[in-house]
Amino acid sequence: MSTKKPWGGRFSQPTDAFVEAFTASVDFDQRLARQDIRGSIAHATMLARQNILTEAEKQQIIDGLEAIGREIAAGDFPWSVTLEDVHMNIEAALTARIGEAGKKLHTGRSRNDQVATDVRLWLRGEIEAIQAELRRLQRALLDLAEREADTILPGFTHLQTAQPVTFGHHMMAWFEMLERDHGRLADCKTRMNQCPLGAAALAGTTFPIDRDFTARELGFDAPCANSLDAVSDRDFAIEFSAAAALLMMHLSRMSEELVIWSSAQFGFITLSDAFCTGSSIMPQKKNPDVPELVRGKSGRVFGHLMGLLTLMKSQPLAYNKDNQEDKEPLFDTVDQLRGSLKVFADMVPEIRCNAGAMRQAALKGFATATDLADYLVRKGVPFRDAHEVVGKAVARCVERGIDLAELSLEELRGFSPAIDEDVFQYLTLEGSVAARDHFGGTAPSQVRQAIARARARIDA
Ligand code: ARG
Repeated sequence: MSTKKPWGGRFSQPTDAFVEAFTASVDFDQRLARQDIRGSIAHATMLARQNILTEAEKQQIIDGLEAIGREIAAGDFPWSVTLEDVHMNIEAALTARIGEAGKKLHTGRSRNDQVATDVRLWLRGEIEAIQAELRRLQRALLDLAEREADTILPGFTHLQTAQPVTFGHHMMAWFEMLERDHGRLADCKTRMNQCPLGAAALAGTTFPIDRDFTARELGFDAPCANSLDAVSDRDFAIEFSAAAALLMMHLSRMSEELVIWSSAQFGFITLSDAFCTGSSIMPQKKNPDVPELVRGKSGRVFGHLMGLLTLMKSQPLAYNKDNQEDKEPLFDTVDQLRGSLKVFADMVPEIRCNAGAMRQAALKGFATATDLADYLVRKGVPFRDAHEVVGKAVARCVERGIDLAELSLEELRGFSPAIDEDVFQYLTLEGSVAARDHFGGTAPSQVRQAIARARARIDA
């Protein structure tokens, strides 16, 4: 196969050897080969429909591209750095294989609209795979929420015990975060789904092309409306990276809770051995490596978002070589995100709750103090006074090392005569969660309804 540069006509000196390697992208953009071939087949089909190529030329091109696709899939394709990128490698191989017709494929096209199309096609497929993995994780959370709808743990603010909540409710909070992430990915996919083909280098082409045809053929909603914009903006990649960064941020928050909960000090959950590792020196250790690593990877994905924003910032219209730098951060963002989602979706069904430890922790931290204040309000005490009364009762308990429910009725009445013996039902953990019985609240019955609504939403 000739490694003559397709753009070599106006050059009299060869490219500097280091510059050749420095400017090449084939080592990483070969990942776009399938999309590149798909785009070329659509382009050649359109050219033949418009009588720019003959039927015979079109058929030779398609057969040649398909054969090259098979060679690439089998790992037998001789990628050449001299041919710079995936586009010129495939085009040169096509011409080597089929001769003259191969040289006609690039009619009415440029690598600029070609690469913009390839990246969009590739990213669209990846977003769909990410969404499927995200759904798998959401389903795992719904199952866990259902299993643990009645399990009570302390809810925290400032990581200090606040009020009792149900574990199912906590899982549903995670579900909601991921539901917004799913929506962001869907929005991004819709905005991205326009076809750059036909924009050519920047201004369009002098050939009578049919841009609607190629757009439709490749599953795009429409051709991009402006050729300069089509070849130059990578906002779709940035928008995806922003959605990915938010999703990783959510996974990182979940990771942090899993790390805390699985510690000996909390002991709220047990992670399966399959998702933990040991220490080479401390025999007792079982480390929550998977959530830790996902938490760590979030930083890397945030970094890619900054990288892409900075890459695009200040670029004049239209295409600039800077844009070749979009691929590695984008590919790595997808890889890290897909890996993190997969490992989470596999790990969540294996989480075991230690209801006893959660209960003990909830009992320890005066988690029902607000319930006592609310009780006093229902007995006619203004909320601010009730808050003061309960604060004093809590201080007494702290002094004596006991919980509110362990104070006698006389002692409680010493703080406020409005307290009667019916108070104790409100001081239990079960009473506390059951009382928060409204849309979005932590009562087990509400959690079960939330789960049912969520299932209907994601199965719709
Ligand atoms: N490898 C290039 C990229 O990734 C393809 C487009 C090159 N276009 C050009 N005019 N040099 O952006």
